[in-house]
Amino acid sequence: MQNNHQPAPLQQFVDSVSSLLAADSDESRFLPKVGEAMRGLVAQDDWLDPAFAQPHPQYYQQYLLYADPEGKFSVVSFVWGPGQQTPIHDHTVWGVIGMLRGAEMAQNYAIAADGTPLPKGEELALNPGAVEFVSPAIGDVHKVRNALEDQVSISIHAYGANIGKVKRHVFPAEGGAAKEFISGYSNVGL
Ligand code: FE2
Repeated sequence: MQNNHQPAPLQQFVDSVSSLLAADSDESRFLPKVGEAMRGLVAQDDWLDPAFAQPHPQYYQQYLLYADPEGKFSVVSFVWGPGQQTPIHDHTVWGVIGMLRGAEMAQNYAIAADGTPLPKGEELALNPGAVEFVSPAIGDVHKVRNALEDQVSISIHAYGANIGKVKRHVFPAEGGAAKEFISGYSNVGL
């Protein structure tokens, strides 16, 4: 599943990201280029396999679309049911988010010395075609939600690791110790 028979736009994105990462290890240079490739991927909403677009009544879903064999990056479809949201979380690796269908709201946070997450800037609306970035270098903590109360929304995420296996953190809104978590995937065992 992960390496064969990809839809053409996804295969093109995977090829572009592979070449970009092979050509330049400086995140500040390759990340905007990965963003451009993502813009191309989400410019058309006609390629995502319906199997990876299925919401769950209770939980937002993360379907692995591609895992680089060397673990350099992964591509995931993030499927929101109506009203679903993430906790405040980090990634620990770079991430590029492209809005494919519906709409998302994203709020960035800074973590205070005592562990309290403090909202940073306004909540951003992501509409189809929009691309956003996260990484420890540019701001890695956010909370994301489906902007729509009555529709499924889907974004495509690329991350600088096999994200389903990465140990990262959830930050309780009231402050206190961050909790470690590993997100896994809705369609693949680890
Ligand atoms: Fe995130």
